[in-house]
Order: sequence, then structure tokens, then C-alpha cells
Amino acid sequence: MAEPLRIALAGLGTVGVGVLRLLAVNGEMLAKRAGRPIEVVAVSARERARDRGVDLAAYDWADDMTTLSMRDDVDVVVELVGGSDGPALTLARNALSNGRHFVTANKAMVALHGMELAEIAEANAAAFKFEAAVAGGIPVVKGLREGAAANRIERISGILNGTCNFILSEMERSGADFSDVLTQAQARGFAEADPGFDIEGVDAAHKLAILAAIGFGARIDFDAVAISGITEVGAADIARAETLGFVIRLVGVADCDTQGNGAPRLLQRVRPCLVPKNHPLAHVTGPTNAVVVEGNFSGRLLFQGAGAGDGPTASSVVADLVDIARGDTGLPFSVPVAQLEPLEAADPGHRVGRDYLRFTVADRPGVLAEITAAMRDADLSIESLIQQGRSANGGEVLVAMVTHEGPERCVTKALELLEGSASLTAPPLVLPILRD
Ligand SMILES: NC(=O)c1ccc[n+]([C@@H]2O[C@H](COP(=O)([O-])OP(=O)(O)OC[C@H]3O[C@@H](n4cnc5c(N)ncnc54)[C@H](OP(=O)(O)O)[C@@H]3O)[C@@H](O)[C@H]2O)c1
Repeated sequence: MAEPLRIALAGLGTVGVGVLRLLAVNGEMLAKRAGRPIEVVAVSARERARDRGVDLAAYDWADDMTTLSMRDDVDVVVELVGGSDGPALTLARNALSNGRHFVTANKAMVALHGMELAEIAEANAAAFKFEAAVAGGIPVVKGLREGAAANRIERISGILNGTCNFILSEMERSGADFSDVLTQAQARGFAEADPGFDIEGVDAAHKLAILAAIGFGARIDFDAVAISGITEVGAADIARAETLGFVIRLVGVADCDTQGNGAPRLLQRVRPCLVPKNHPLAHVTGPTNAVVVEGNFSGRLLFQGAGAGDGPTASSVVADLVDIARGDTGLPFSVPVAQLEPLEAADPGHRVGRDYLRFTVADRPGVLAEITAAMRDADLSIESLIQQGRSANGGEVLVAMVTHEGPERCVTKALELLEGSASLTAPPLVLPILRD
């Protein structure tokens, strides 16, 4: 059999140990599929003495993970440490500059530094692969880059964060409020002790920015992703959405919009959305991830599976290693970085769609008339409206409505007209309705 592909592995946490286990269990089969064995030669983590439940005796240990990129006996450096900058980025730069192939699951680093790293990879004829960085075990990077390569991609939409999806679908199932379900999710290991990046939508935005770059042949532009998380979604919104025929999910959507002069512009947003119950994303519950890719010849493609966890994420990391072992060290974003378009960000005001609006208002006569007048003046028409029964104490009531299809700028205008109104006792919530 051919020479082994020699690996150095930085990070021996959930995913790193998952990779070692997978290589141990499936090693023989992988060697056949890849045409050569995949062999770990060196590892690194912070604490050498920590019991990780795997035998590390066969591997060289590096106290400083950046030294892994300088070893002559290593073909691929695998980074499973995390963090967009710091040691992970230093390792990536060094490994690729030294002509080592580089595999990572680090979405934050790819979203923020992917263009620079791809340029270094190209210049040094090294592979830079990151299947595990987007949606854990789902082969959606490969699906977009290879399976859907024949298509012009029209739209990518996805449930890209398992923590948020678990929380929203659990709120839907139990009727409980956000904070209670978050506590439960943390106890069950579906949310980090510090869940900020997840519940505020940043993690999903990292993944969306990567998918958009591959799908639309665009330079990654993470700063252009408009992000809002799920903390403002209440049990009452979920109940109202259900009455209207929707579920609420945190969805990342990227599509190309030709405005004015016909030049393509990219709209990238991560927001809680009302998803029609007949849409494929409405059926995705718990920590599962799913991505819908719409190609101009393939039609709608659905990728679904576990978005995190040691096994699924290791599966994607090792799939990248198999590719490299087979000699597929091709361009990270399919085309040379210089050919990726620096697409301008689209103005969301041009989006034409329906929206869900929820107002928390003082329970007194005339309030509803004030809201509907603002909607009329903004050219926004209402398709349906639900008003909660009167409050027992004459305090607040919720008014929820769904608009007819129209430009998003009308919603913005209606909210501007209502700004500062004494009738509104809390900021309104606007959730877009996903096209079915
Ligand atoms: N967990 C998932 O399901 C999942 C899914 C998709 C993608 N990812 C991504 O995969 C990467 C790893 O995630 P994870 O969940 O496996 O993280 P983790 O369990 O926290 O493991 C991180 C590992 O990195 C090591 N480490 C941290 N700082 C280091 C340093 N300065 N030098 C050397 N080693 C260092 C830690 O060492 P010690 O063990 O000694 O502390 C630990 O072994 C992240 O980029 C994450 O976003 C994770």
C-alpha cells in the first residue's frame, strides 16, 4: 500500500478525541477507500496529563501546538482548538505557509480569515479544508462545491445552530419561555455555559457567510451578515405563529439580488423567521441542522443531519482527510480567491415578502387604531391580526399581525412612525416569513 498520510492534530477536546476514535474504529476501511493509511503522528492540547479516554502513547506530544506545522514528518495539520484568532490562526498561517495541508472545524476562523488562509493555501499548493466548520456532520460544503457545482445557486437557507433549534422547538413543544428552556438546554448539554455566540446568532452567521461564499462565488463578507438572535422570541410568539400555520426557527438566508443597475448584490441574514409548516425547514426539530440549497437546474436540495457532536463532526473532519489522501487538494472555494466576486451587500429594504409583527401595547381604547393608521401611512397592508383578550389589570396586551407581501422598507417606515408612541410599552418584534 502507498505511503501513509501523516497527520498532526491540535486540540483533543470533543472533536479531536472524536477524530482519534473514528480513525481507530474505521482505520482499515478508510485506508482502502483513501488508497493509503491515515496515520496520526503528533498531537497537542493544553493539559498533557488530562485523561481523555483515549490512549495517546503512540503519538508525539507537542506542548506548543504551533510547532506541529514545522515538522517534516507531517503532511496535514488538523486544527480542532477553536477561536477565530490567537493560536489557531497562527497555526493555520504557519502550516499553510510551510506547504502543509490544513483541515479545520473552526467556523469563526474560516468566516473571519478564510480569504487570507485560502490565498496562502493557493500560493503554497496546500489544501485548506473545512467541511466540519459548517453544520457538523452534514456534508454541505462538499454538496455545494461538488454535488451542486453544475448550478447557479439562487438561494441558500439553513438552520445552522443546533442550540437555537433545540430551544425554539422545545419552546414550541412545552409552551415554556426562552429563559427556562435555555437553562434546560444547558443542563442537557445542548447549550454552552456561555451561550452568547449561539443564541445571538453569531455562530449561525459564521456558517452562513462560508456557505454564501461557496454558493455565490463571492468573497466571504462576515461583516455584511445582518444578525439577530432568538432572545426576543417569546412563548406567546410561538403560540401565535402556530395559530397562523407557522413554526419559528432561527434561519440563515443568503440570496443574490439584482437591484437598480442589475449588478448582483448579496443579502445575508440570520434571523428568527416564521417558517410555513409545509416548508422542509419546519420539520427540523431539536439540535438537528438543515440546509436548503436552490440551484437553477437541480431545484431544491435538502441537506440534513447532526450539526454538532463528536461523532458527526469527526466524520466531516475525516472526510476531508480522505479527500487529501486521495490527492484532492483543490481550491478551498472552488475558484481562485482572486476570482471570487467582492459582492456588494444588498439593501434589505428591497426584500419583498411577508412579515410577522408583534406589538406590546397599553390596554386602552384607540391603540389598535393608532397602529393600523401607521401601517396604512407606510403602505403596509395587514393579512391577519390576532389581539390577545383584554388584560385583567388594564396593563399590557399583545397584538400580533401578519402583513401582505410588500417591500421590507414599508415595515421599517411603519415602525418609524410608531417610534416614541406612548401606546407601545415595549419595542415591537418583527420576524420575516420564509417563502415556502
Ligand atoms: N463540539 C462540536 O460539536 C463542534 C461542532 C462543529 C465544529 N466545532 C469546532 O471544532 C473546534 C473544537 O471544538 P471542541 O468542541 O472539540 O472544543 P473543546 O472540546 O473545547 O476542545 C478544545 C481543545 O483545544 C485545546 N486547546 C485550547 N487552547 C489550546 C492551546 N492554546 N494550545 C493547545 N491546545 C489548546 C484544549 O486543550 P485541553 O483539553 O488540554 O484543555 C482542547 O483539547 C472549534 O473550532 C469548534 O467551533 C465543534
